Amino acid sequence: MKAQNSTSKRRSHIRKILLIVGFILVLLALLVGLHLADKHSAEPRQTAHALAENGDILHQHWVMPGAELQSDGLHVTYTDQKIVEQNATGGQPNPPINLGGTHLLVTGDFSVSATMQTMPGAALQLYGQVPLVSDEFRVERPSIRFTIANDHTLAVAMWDGSPAHDLANPAPTLTQAFTFTPGDNLKLTMQRQNGQLAIVLNGKTAGEISEHGVFSSGQVWFGADSEQPGATWVLSHLAATKLSSSTSIQTLDGADIRVAASPQGLQTLATAKRPGFLVGTALAPAPLYSDATYQKTFFGNFGMFTPENALKRQFIEPQPGQYHFAPMDALIALAKQNDITHINGHALIFGEANPAYLTNMATNTFAARQAVEQNMDNYISTVVGHFKGRITSWDVVNEPLADYDTFDETSGHIYRDHTYYHAMGESYIAEALRTAHAADPNAALYINEYGLEQNGPRWDTMLALVTSLKQQGAPLTGIGFQAHEYEASDKIDTNVLKAHFKQLAALGLNARISEMDVYDDDGQQVQATQYSAVLDACISDRTCVSYTTWGFDNEYDLWQDDNRQLQYGKTLLWDGDKPTPAVAAMRAALQK
Ligand code: XIL
Repeated sequence: MKAQNSTSKRRSHIRKILLIVGFILVLLALLVGLHLADKHSAEPRQTAHALAENGDILHQHWVMPGAELQSDGLHVTYTDQKIVEQNATGGQPNPPINLGGTHLLVTGDFSVSATMQTMPGAALQLYGQVPLVSDEFRVERPSIRFTIANDHTLAVAMWDGSPAHDLANPAPTLTQAFTFTPGDNLKLTMQRQNGQLAIVLNGKTAGEISEHGVFSSGQVWFGADSEQPGATWVLSHLAATKLSSSTSIQTLDGADIRVAASPQGLQTLATAKRPGFLVGTALAPAPLYSDATYQKTFFGNFGMFTPENALKRQFIEPQPGQYHFAPMDALIALAKQNDITHINGHALIFGEANPAYLTNMATNTFAARQAVEQNMDNYISTVVGHFKGRITSWDVVNEPLADYDTFDETSGHIYRDHTYYHAMGESYIAEALRTAHAADPNAALYINEYGLEQNGPRWDTMLALVTSLKQQGAPLTGIGFQAHEYEASDKIDTNVLKAHFKQLAALGLNARISEMDVYDDDGQQVQATQYSAVLDACISDRTCVSYTTWGFDNEYDLWQDDNRQLQYGKTLLWDGDKPTPAVAAMRAALQK
């Protein structure tokens, strides 16, 4: 009995010790886990999946204007997405790309096969790197495009990523035509092997072209469109296959991107200083979906965003009445999943980036002017209504004032000339605000303009305008100060800025810093001081509700010079993953 008793006592003793040791181990594991999670919390996570056994890509996730997955395949419609010239002539093709949906990660040799309805103008494009899209040009990076020219000819065009002679008209590096046996469908296979692309059409090798490194990025993105007005074609099969035992093919879905805010992120610091204050940036979809560094900086630092170009009218309604909301819906869902709930819609009514049909609308008769007004109201109701509750503020009217070079208060030329203004005079501004408010009474509504940070006729004009709008009872929330600094004369004096905030507060209006970027000609220290001083002035004044920079990564600060060549700016906060001195200066301002 005794012996038994002592054994069981010892056993329970051992059990206790084991329990305690176990408990300590679990605790340790938890702590280590937490530490690691903390360390990696700002690293982008996007789970890659092995490609299905049958290589199917068609039944994955598509987020493309004009494309809809139905039981017989992907229906691809003519969208006529174009980037128009500002005078509404011409226009660079801007065919849709599946950015927000599925793309592939590939190492080694592979093939992609597609079954395309043989309809002239049916086009499938495979991108090694996605194009960068601004509102004046699209930078073609490496891709290959297959277009059905007629019932027996496939036209192939390739861009190898070398700089275009004319940025807004990037001629392909090579074009070639291949013939195939006519039939209802074309079975196209592109085999990437040893630096060559073999083209197999309806089971027959049609030819071979050099790959020109198009897929050396290890990525394959998909785009499809119809070049024939009004025509829809069906892509009934799309699959990828490994061509060697060392090949790996994985799928990634844009909807899966997850990145946590960083503890040192600008928004986190701003929230600690002034809860509710927002730090935002202009955002471009192409780098957001394709560049992990861009993802990490964006989600790690910002609490709101303004689509830089993607919500401009030429992208949203390229043809009258044909709205393309899917890419922005996906972007908003992705932002929400990553805790960004504030989005500034840019811009409803603007004199630029409009589709040609709008710019060309007549305004010479009463009926014509009424048609423009109707058109404006429809556009605002449809767009604001669609994003109701999801886009929390709008630049309802962007840049209503005449440009610097034509602005002349003595002659009265103070407003920007555009179709809406021609049709309605300055009354379009109040009308636009009222229409937006009716479509989403909870959205904050702004007039957004540049050059308001200084004293002078521009500011006086704006102040008179918003005073009159308030008197009329127009539903205006405040003013967006673009705060672009492109030259020494643009430097912002925060005392003047603060005085302008006061004037707005007296009218019951608020302010946002909406598009700040700073030239670096005077060096990065001056740049840093400007960025941080304006942030400090804004967050220290309750009238200023948010601070947004016009982009954040110099690698995507693109502009077009007078010779239509691509240039990179140095006006933003990061060079890829390297912060410029402005970031530390802004953090310091937020931690003051
Ligand atoms: C700019 C974009 O950043 C560029 O990508 C585009 O090529 C031209 O437009 N004020 C505005 C923004 O309100 O829409 C402009 O954006 C910059 C000036």
